[in-house]
Amino acid sequence: MIRICPSILNANLDDLPGEIAKIASASDLLHLDVMDGIFVPNFTFDFPRAREIIESSDIDVDVHLMIANADTESLAYTDTKAVSITVHLEACVDPEQTLKNIRKKGKRAALAIKPSTPVSAIQELVDHIDMVLIMTVEPGFGGQSFMSEMMPKVQSARHYLEQKGLSDTWLQVDGGINESTISIARKAGADTFVAGSAVFKSENPAGMIETLRRLASAVK
Ligand code: DX5
Ligand code: ZN
Repeated sequence: MIRICPSILNANLDDLPGEIAKIASASDLLHLDVMDGIFVPNFTFDFPRAREIIESSDIDVDVHLMIANADTESLAYTDTKAVSITVHLEACVDPEQTLKNIRKKGKRAALAIKPSTPVSAIQELVDHIDMVLIMTVEPGFGGQSFMSEMMPKVQSARHYLEQKGLSDTWLQVDGGINESTISIARKAGADTFVAGSAVFKSENPAGMIETLRRLASAVK
């Protein structure tokens, strides 16, 4: 199963309902990048604004929290309509408890790692994780180039999940996913793909999502 999650980071934020309408029929999840200007240098939304977007979206929302103090700061998001909440391992003091808190509220609990964090860091937590996010760019900005050197991490996460029989755990990649990189990430074992600029810079965003889905599905 392939999932495509458009990121609205580079969409026209002044007309979010219009932008979301363009992709609604083609998307699996809407990827919402929350950045606090502390964990990453960029700032996108505070909680009230993020909640507004989550509550008004017709598409299920996958929240990617690039925020410091994720153990406590993620709690508010568990009371929204978001279906999946991703925290960064680097921003948690007690990742296991934080993932448990997210699951307790009926959300998918997801754990992300930055390019410099080894994949071995998440192994002991996999039983508490519904989705692993391997960043394929340095978090903070859209429109950066895909880091193919992250593919061994994707491969080893896939291998580890298979070994543990965790076939329901999604494996997401985020950053630089486009028509030329999605097959590389699929081949490495990813099944859930975030795409920001590739989708929203396209003249036909819904068509681009379908193209990405077709390219990923074609990988044997
Ligand atoms: C980067 C964000 C990404 C970003 C992806 O920190 O987490 O979700 O929006 O954008 P593209 O697809 O343009 O790399
Ligand atoms: Zn993201």
